[in-house]
Amino acid sequence: MKYKNILLTGGTGNLGKAIIKSGYFQNILSPNKKILDITKPETIEDFFNKNEIDAVIHCAALARLRECEENPVKSIETNIFGTSNLVNEVIKKDEKTKKKIRFIHISTDGVYEGIKGNYSEKDETIPCNKYGWTKLGAECVVNLLSNFCIIRTRFFDPNNIKFEKSAVDVYTSKITVFELSKAIKVILENNFVGTINIGGKRGSDYGAYKKYKPSIKPCKFEDILKETSFPMTKDASMDISLWEKIEQQYKK
Ligand SMILES: NC(=O)c1ccc[n+]([C@@H]2O[C@H](COP(=O)([O-])OP(=O)(O)OC[C@H]3O[C@@H](n4cnc5c(N)ncnc54)[C@H](OP(=O)(O)O)[C@@H]3O)[C@@H](O)[C@H]2O)c1
Repeated sequence: MKYKNILLTGGTGNLGKAIIKSGYFQNILSPNKKILDITKPETIEDFFNKNEIDAVIHCAALARLRECEENPVKSIETNIFGTSNLVNEVIKKDEKTKKKIRFIHISTDGVYEGIKGNYSEKDETIPCNKYGWTKLGAECVVNLLSNFCIIRTRFFDPNNIKFEKSAVDVYTSKITVFELSKAIKVILENNFVGTINIGGKRGSDYGAYKKYKPSIKPCKFEDILKETSFPMTKDASMDISLWEKIEQQYKK
C-alpha cells in the first residue's frame, strides 16, 4: 500500500464499514464522531496533529435524502461546511509539510439531473433535490485541493436491503459496497486527479435488488414519488468509460 496512514471519515456508515471490512486498506484510522466531528474544525486539527495522515477517504455525510430535505441547515453544515473544514486542514498540512495528501471524496450520481441517464463527467450538474445540491457544494470545495479524486457513484449493501418494494423504471449504475471498496483502493493508488463516475452497467433498482433479495416486490417510480415529498432521479445512470479505462490499466 502506497499510503501509510489513511484517515477514513464516516467509518460507522454503510460504505465506511465495508471499506474497513474489505481488508484492501492497511493502516486505516477511522475515528468516531466524538473524536473527529467534521463540523468541528478543532477536532480535525487535533487529529491531524496527533497522526501523520497521508491520505483521506471522505465518506462522512448526511447521506439520507429525507433528512437533507427536512433539515437543510444540518445538511449544509455536514456536507458542505464539514467537507470544507476537512479540506482546509489538508491544505494547511500540505503547505506545512510540502506533501500532497491524497484526498478521495465520495460524491453521488445525484449531482446530475437524473432524467436522461448515461451522464458523463462533463455533463451539466443540476441536482434535483437538497441532498444533491449539498453534495455538489462539497465537490466545489474538494476541487481546491491538488491531489484529489471525486468519485460520483451509487451503491448498496446486498446483505442489508431494507426496502420491501423497488421500482422497475428507475435506473442507475449502482454497484455493491464491496465493488466500490475495491474501486476506491484502485483510485487511491492511482495518480488520477479530477472527477470520475464509478459504477456498473445501467439497470433498474428492482433488477439490482431482486438478485440479492428475491422477496422484493416490483413497483413504479410514481408509486415511490407518492410516498416521498421531494424530487428524486429517474435515470441517473452514468457513462463509466473513464473508470473502465483506469480499471483495465490496473489489471494489467
Ligand atoms: N448510499 C448511497 O447509495 C450513496 C450514493 C452516492 C454517494 N453516497 C455517499 O457515500 C458516502 C457514504 O454513504 P453511506 O451510505 O455510507 O452513509 P451513512 O451510512 O449514512 O453513514 C454516514 C457516516 O457519516 C458519519 N457522519 C455524519 N456526520 C458526521 C460528522 N459531523 N462528523 C463525522 N462523521 C459524521 C456518520 O457517523 P455517525 O454514524 O456517528 O453519525 C456515518 O459514519 C456519503 O458521502 C454519501 O453521500 C452514498
